[in-house]
Amino acid sequence: MKNMVVLISGRGSNMQALVEAGLPVKGVISNRADAAGLEYASGRGIATAIVSHRDYAAREAFDAALALAIDGFQPDLVALAGFMRILTAGFVQRYQDRLLNIHPSLLPAFPGLDTHARALAAGVKLHGCTVHFVTPELDHGPIVVQAAVPVLAHDDETVLAARVLAQEHRIYPQAARWFLDGKLVIDNGVVRVNGDHPQQLYAP
Ligand code: GRF
Repeated sequence: MKNMVVLISGRGSNMQALVEAGLPVKGVISNRADAAGLEYASGRGIATAIVSHRDYAAREAFDAALALAIDGFQPDLVALAGFMRILTAGFVQRYQDRLLNIHPSLLPAFPGLDTHARALAAGVKLHGCTVHFVTPELDHGPIVVQAAVPVLAHDDETVLAARVLAQEHRIYPQAARWFLDGKLVIDNGVVRVNGDHPQQLYAP
């Protein structure tokens, strides 16, 4: 049976969405012992592990420990879900083409942090989220699926973030399922889904 591991740093609502969609989440790994998502995972009988970045002086050493924890599960897919550490190129290469991330913007717009505040400040009228394969460059990499939501006149960061998050919880399970079903093809940096499934969602 195929399976996946999810990496979190905090709340873990995307991880929860993956579990509740029935995906085979075998392990949840956090770099923070106080990540709220860990409690949810153990409550569901899912194995958890903590690899604290504070225990390692160098990024390479942290990534090596993380890889050891991941490989213990022998996952087909590794999903970053609010995992707030920058990964080394070596780590990313080790999991090349089986490492997904969810990012709260319509990439390539607004890579990095504070995406909702930046979207509001830029005055964009559409915002959203992206599931993409991870490459060494932060928040780049082949796009699997995107969901777009409107930015409304009186939105603040909290309201906009919640609107986007609801869509994250829809597209991440979809992307993970496509991956585990062997439906994703990366062709020259462009992802296609075998069977012609729509790779975009509009949530007015
Ligand atoms: C999500 O918005 C995700 O896109 C971003 O960090 C947030 C994590 O939320 N990378 P959660 O931990 O999944 O609830």
